[in-house]
Amino acid sequence: MDLKLIFAQELKTQLLQDWSEKELYDLIETPKHSHLGDLAFPCFQLAKTMKKAPAQIAREMAAEITSPLFTKVEAVGPYINIHFDGSKAGKEIVSGILAKGKDYGTHTFGENRTVVLDMSSPNIAKPFSMGHLRSTVIGNAIATIAEKCGYRTEKINYIGDWGTQFGKLIVAFKKWGDPDKVKENPIAELFILYKKFHEEAELDASLEEEGRKAFKLLEDGDEEITGLWRWFKDESLQAFKTIYSLLGVEFDSYNGEAFFNDKMEEVVTLLKKQHLLEESQGAQVVRMDDGNLPPCLIKKTDGATLYATRDLAAALYRHRQYAFDEALYIVGQEQTIHFQQVMNVLKKLGYNWADEMKHIPFGLYLKDGKKMSTRKGRVILLEEVLQEAIKMAEDNIKQKNPDLKDAYAVARDVGVGAIIFHDLKNDRLNDIEFSLEHMLTFEGETGPYIQYTYARAQSLLRKAGQSEPLTFEGLEDAESWDVIKQLRLFPEIIEKAWQHYAPSVIAKYLIATSQSFNRYYAKTKIISGDNQQHSRLALVHAVGIVLAEGLRLLGTKSPAEM
Ligand code: ARG
Repeated sequence: MDLKLIFAQELKTQLLQDWSEKELYDLIETPKHSHLGDLAFPCFQLAKTMKKAPAQIAREMAAEITSPLFTKVEAVGPYINIHFDGSKAGKEIVSGILAKGKDYGTHTFGENRTVVLDMSSPNIAKPFSMGHLRSTVIGNAIATIAEKCGYRTEKINYIGDWGTQFGKLIVAFKKWGDPDKVKENPIAELFILYKKFHEEAELDASLEEEGRKAFKLLEDGDEEITGLWRWFKDESLQAFKTIYSLLGVEFDSYNGEAFFNDKMEEVVTLLKKQHLLEESQGAQVVRMDDGNLPPCLIKKTDGATLYATRDLAAALYRHRQYAFDEALYIVGQEQTIHFQQVMNVLKKLGYNWADEMKHIPFGLYLKDGKKMSTRKGRVILLEEVLQEAIKMAEDNIKQKNPDLKDAYAVARDVGVGAIIFHDLKNDRLNDIEFSLEHMLTFEGETGPYIQYTYARAQSLLRKAGQSEPLTFEGLEDAESWDVIKQLRLFPEIIEKAWQHYAPSVIAKYLIATSQSFNRYYAKTKIISGDNQQHSRLALVHAVGIVLAEGLRLLGTKSPAEM
């Protein structure tokens, strides 16, 4: 049973009959420090109608409200703080978790609503960058959290497979490329060609023009150029798919920029009809409502379309195709202006649903304080990074548990999980220092630490030979109550993570829950043969349910042994 609900019901029946249970429920907070109480009700809202100071209301009401489930009720400034009777309330909470199992924390408020996520979206013929890694893992976690809240999701990988850069690449390939080399090592080889193009173009300005022409030919469907482009794309997709399968991420659609090549004319026509297109230095632009924003470029002088034009066509298409309630673009914060422009153009066209489009930005990966980049030689190949993490996890596991069966599979879950968790535990917008050593330690605020805590819980259950259904009869000690209170928060944490599109809320919660469980574990002999053992194991089982489900929501695995 939900403790907040119990508190809300007591408030309503004993003191605040005029309020709805829901209103009261939504006001109840969890105090930052648990010694202050398990739940707190703020009296600011009441102060308005009662025309009394919030602190006075809190004092008066705290003196009146009672329940056999509360051990203490007190006014703390403008709040009514309550402490639950751990053994009685604990029974409600733990039994509830055991009964619900994996469904604990599930919400229904997203039912019959669709969220479209534009995520990952790497560029073909280029290495998969750290930014694309962030977009992939953040997007994937947000999607899983959305599903947990009842939403239907569409995960779209908007592959960057169109634009002037492909004209340049094709020119470079035709001038300097060696087909055999490209076949052998497509991404690296194409990237070398792309870089060579830029070096040469600094000396020879006509190359840029050639590149533009080649892209125009591509847009017009030229056979030879299209063939090359398709080849580059197939090779790139194959390499990306290796990464996705390591990360355990799947998509519902791979419709990238090229898919919209024949769908942009509609946008241009609509803009023309509504007299929104203006000419600026030969190009076609839409002026922004906010004068601080640069005009949105729709067509270049030579008629070639742009990144924004394709995003406009994609938005129209997605709205038609999925009738989305929300469209999230998980893209680095350096593209903030681009998304403001795209949304503004849609609003100008009269599409109010553009208000349901949201750019979900994120910060950079840093290596020794500097931007990790795929350009300028400091290329970090993600696949190598993942393999290295797996290797390091394997070494750690060999030391800790040399007899573990299937050690490679576990190492993969731990190594990849470490990278994902390290990304997600940070607030999205922060830049993150990339350090494999750091990510992979079994102590501290890491993925392996959470996974290890989960495996420890499973090992306790195995050791106790616990197979029959566990029931929780109640435990009295303070450490178990701390764990139980932590478990109680899970449903709220999921809702909060969704509201802020912040997987970090869940990651931080998993850290706190693991720490709380490990404190309990350090103080208590769980398998001691006394009459409380059954309840302790039931609690261990509930902890396992929450940790595994939390890890799943982040897109990480929870091996039963490691
Ligand atoms: N391919 C782009 C890049 O790597 C990201 C695409 C983001 N999504 C979008 N709808 N514009 O920068």
